[in-house]
Amino acid sequence: MDLASHRFMSYFEPLQAAHLCQIAVLESFAEETLVFEEGDPADFLYLVLAGEVEFSKRIENNKYQAIAVAGPDDFFGELGVLDGEPRSARAVAFAGSTLAKICREELIATLELAKGRSVLQMFNFIIKNLRDTTDQYVSQFVHKQKMVLVGEMVSTIIHDFKSPFTGIKLSSEMLKEMHPDQETQEWCELIQLQVQRMLGMAEEVLEFSRGNSVLNKKPVNLIQTLQQFEKLNKVYFYVAKVDLMMEVTEVIVEADENKILRVLQNLVGNAVEAFGGRGGRVEIIVTQSEEWAEISIYDNGPGIPQAIKEKLFEPFVTYGKRTGTGLGTAIAKSIIDAHKGEITYDSEKNKGTTFYIRLPKNLAVG
Ligand SMILES: Nc1ncnc2c1ncn2[C@@H]1O[C@H](COP(=O)(O)OP(=O)(O)OP(=O)(O)O)[C@@H](O)[C@H]1O
Ligand SMILES: [Mg+2]
Repeated sequence: MDLASHRFMSYFEPLQAAHLCQIAVLESFAEETLVFEEGDPADFLYLVLAGEVEFSKRIENNKYQAIAVAGPDDFFGELGVLDGEPRSARAVAFAGSTLAKICREELIATLELAKGRSVLQMFNFIIKNLRDTTDQYVSQFVHKQKMVLVGEMVSTIIHDFKSPFTGIKLSSEMLKEMHPDQETQEWCELIQLQVQRMLGMAEEVLEFSRGNSVLNKKPVNLIQTLQQFEKLNKVYFYVAKVDLMMEVTEVIVEADENKILRVLQNLVGNAVEAFGGRGGRVEIIVTQSEEWAEISIYDNGPGIPQAIKEKLFEPFVTYGKRTGTGLGTAIAKSIIDAHKGEITYDSEKNKGTTFYIRLPKNLAVG
């Protein structure tokens, strides 16, 4: 946009606006560039003509937390210019941005002569910005607090579950020794696997709440992963009247197998929960292209509720479940992201839902 049609100019009388246009200095950014740092003196007001500017605040360990973004027709930096205080956030312009800057003294001089209406309009904009930024900050803060709470809860759960888990494990080992027949051996192994799995799941929620997903990658044959998945869930599917159909080509990916199992578990678990005890059909199909392994997971359930479609993968988004925490799909996405893969879905009311996962095979790159 051109400077004369920027909203900031509309606040002023034509002569004053023309003067501001004349003294404004245009600056274009070919790459991501720091406009000002938190704590810098506030010497200019900036009008965004093209591109985007991101604002962030320094948090612990010299990391930055994004708090807002300004686009064309927005202006920023007015608070410091008006009250003379240093910048309260850092501003970074993305490549392709154009800003017009007006120096503090000129702006103050113009404002002193401006009509009350101009000042009022400017304040409306400033107040709206402050409200938006505060809302965003509060929701980020609440989100963080929830994560901390989840982390603390899971730590306690893991701690308290360790001794009963050890008890179950030891008992099943004893049963195995007492009954050497094939069937008992298999059931006992299943018990041990499931106990191990419960611990693994709790550890994963803990990792997620701390915001780190450490991958233990090795070449994984997805056929075996899916066979393992089927074995672990045989009883679960039987009880829930779920027909599982799998069509798997042999694909080797560089991945963390336990985490991929977790993704399958969370997505298929959701499908089973959506069947609501009536049973249903789940199809898992694995194919591959040159670079990707592709997994699709279909269910013929009721579909993802419209109300949460837009933000399904966000943490704590849950719908229609008494005990849902809303972490299942968020964890699945964080695991796929950590593998540099992609996860999307398609869903239609009363027809069903399909999740599509792509994982880079990565074998040549290592
Ligand atoms: N296959 C599906 N069919 C229908 N609805 C689904 C399906 N998958 C997810 N949903 C909806 O999406 C919501 C979010 O799922 P998500 O797994 O993230 O959380 P949750 O299942 O509610 O809780 P948690 O997984 O933490 O126990 C679910 O509450 C459910 O309403
Ligand atoms: Mg879930």
